[in-house]
Amino acid sequence: MKCAIILAGGKGTRMKSEKPKVMCEVLFVPMIKYVLDAVREAGVKDICVITGYEHEVVEEYLASVDSNIKTALQSPQLGTGHAVMQARDFISSHQNDDILILNGDGPLMDSYTVNKAYNYHKSNNNGITLISAVVDDTHGIGHIKRDKNGTLLRIVEDKDATEDEKKIMEANSGTYWFKGSSLLYAIDNITNDNAQKEYYLTDALEILIHKGENKGAYIAENSEVILGANDRVQLRDLNSIMRRNINNAHMLDGIDIPCTDGVMIGKNVKIGNSTRILPNTIIIGDTEIGENCVIGPNTYIDNGTIGNDVILDNCKVLDSTVEDGVDCGPFVKVRANSVLKKGVHVGNFVEIKNSVVGEGTKSAHLTYIGDSDVGAGVNFGCGTVTCNYDGKNKSRCKIGDGAFIGCNTNLIAPVEVGDKAYIAAGSTITDDIPEDSLSIARAKQVNKEGWVKRKKPYKNQ
Ligand code: UD1
Ligand code: CA
Repeated sequence: MKCAIILAGGKGTRMKSEKPKVMCEVLFVPMIKYVLDAVREAGVKDICVITGYEHEVVEEYLASVDSNIKTALQSPQLGTGHAVMQARDFISSHQNDDILILNGDGPLMDSYTVNKAYNYHKSNNNGITLISAVVDDTHGIGHIKRDKNGTLLRIVEDKDATEDEKKIMEANSGTYWFKGSSLLYAIDNITNDNAQKEYYLTDALEILIHKGENKGAYIAENSEVILGANDRVQLRDLNSIMRRNINNAHMLDGIDIPCTDGVMIGKNVKIGNSTRILPNTIIIGDTEIGENCVIGPNTYIDNGTIGNDVILDNCKVLDSTVEDGVDCGPFVKVRANSVLKKGVHVGNFVEIKNSVVGEGTKSAHLTYIGDSDVGAGVNFGCGTVTCNYDGKNKSRCKIGDGAFIGCNTNLIAPVEVGDKAYIAAGSTITDDIPEDSLSIARAKQVNKEGWVKRKKPYKNQ
């Protein structure tokens, strides 16, 4: 059986964040989530996460994404070896299994690499297999020291390395496969006998070599998988790589992204064939987009369900459904819990919140539709406002099929507008309107002839 320990106890001082480092985000998702996904994808059943700094925050997040994850608390945090020591019970219960250890701050590690390393680990009957990569920049990482025949000797942390050791470009990823029994032996023998007075997990290699166990390094085919983030600049780099990987995968899948500038698409987003994504568009959460849509420029979608042939031009869509053929924008905000049914047209400066808008309804400009149930084929004149809040309570408006709402109408909720009712421009509607009726709710116009000549209200007149 495969099981895993993820190290997530560190504060991440260099991140200068209130959050524990593993909660810092890549494409709007905490780094540790990617590590968890890779581990699950690799077929790992039992997972123990080591928490420490701000452990409640990490534990709460873990519980929200996967209720089967175990945690072990590390307090205080005395290094990666010390972190693994906190999972002693977990390791004891998996002595005959293979245990994967990963850093919670390495979101690019993938199941492909983990599985390749596992196969190598098993076929060599290794006590420890580390994943390494040849990189251009070894600043702050562990160097893999080998003898002249290439046999592994030990891992030297950059801060403890001599000038010669610093030149070794094979880097430790912080991801390892251990035999359960070997890991147990290693953690019982790791000491803090080094300049930093930390318990280094990397010492496990030397310990197991002395014990006479088989060891090996699986060199990752794609060296980027080993990258982690210790500060905000590295976090930006991880965002760039993740963004490029996801965008490329979509393009190869038939999505049209003519320019990827500012295009950030989350890992769980699904997009249908021939949909076009324009610059400065952020699509995140569990968003699903159909085929032949044009999304962007400057559009933000979080947890949207978007149909086929939809246009979202400069729009924000949050936790809402937009059905086939809807045309929105520019400058439209669709707030949580809204449904725009087929063929709805929403034009500039319109906000929709917690409302259902029926098929083919048009709201072309400057309108607020909040807490409303709107039928099919309704026409909203420019400047219509559903007045859904009286200072204490929110109430709903109901608008029947085919109603015509004149420009600058206020609908004071709760109120019901019947099917095909016709509201005169400038009305403030406080009472229900029966179907097929005209409603005029505004002061009658008065013209006072000759008034200007008599009163002379203008300067220089
Ligand atoms: C570690 C490795 C280094 C490797 C690098 C890859 C050690 C000693 N060094 O260095 O060889 O090249 O990862 O990224 O292992 N953590 C705890 N408790 C602690 C300290 C850390 O849980 O007391 C967690 C952190 O939250 C983090 C992970 O362990 O998720 C790695 O810790 P970090 O301090 O970033 O190690 P590196 O210096 O990067
Ligand atoms: Ca690190």
